[in-house]
Amino acid sequence: MQLLEGEREEILACVKEVLGNNSIERENLIPILQKVQHRLGYLPALAMEKIAEGVGVPEVDVYGLATFYNQFRLNPPGKHQVKVCLGTACYMVGGDITLESFERRMEIKEGETTSDRRYSLERVACVGCCSLAPVVVVDEQVEGKVTPTRVDGIMLALEEDGDQSGSSSGEADSETGEAGTNGNS
Ligand code: FES
Repeated sequence: MQLLEGEREEILACVKEVLGNNSIERENLIPILQKVQHRLGYLPALAMEKIAEGVGVPEVDVYGLATFYNQFRLNPPGKHQVKVCLGTACYMVGGDITLESFERRMEIKEGETTSDRRYSLERVACVGCCSLAPVVVVDEQVEGKVTPTRVDGIMLALEEDGDQSGSSSGEADSETGEAGTNGNS
């Protein structure tokens, strides 16, 4: 993923500061990665390279840790974050098909971010509203009964949100009307 203007400097400063606050031991790798991700929103390759240098371990070890644990993300969060539930209830009614529909529309795979950083797509475990399965969380808004047709509607709403100014960063209204979307029911 290409870095944005000024991002390289931000990453270098962040890693320097985080390493400066820790005794540089291999055992500290996970907390270091957590702190860097907390600050940057993800773990860029450059950050992992610099962490490896700072801790004195091969880069592949840092990368291996980051890919082993689900908590770490290697791609930046998109302006719009779409999370498709693949918990049992959602999977049973086609959550995987919903995910594929988003992948096709965004032209990325789950776990990835579009090159313009507009959309990121993830799979998540049960989000607690199985009666609405298949469920998708779009920028913190829960969308229920998300069939492939509704995927088109959601994407359209997100695209229109961008066209209309790039205003609110992320409160994609569910403009498709149907299928109530309040999360906790
Ligand atoms: S399995 Fe998807 S909300 Fe519970």
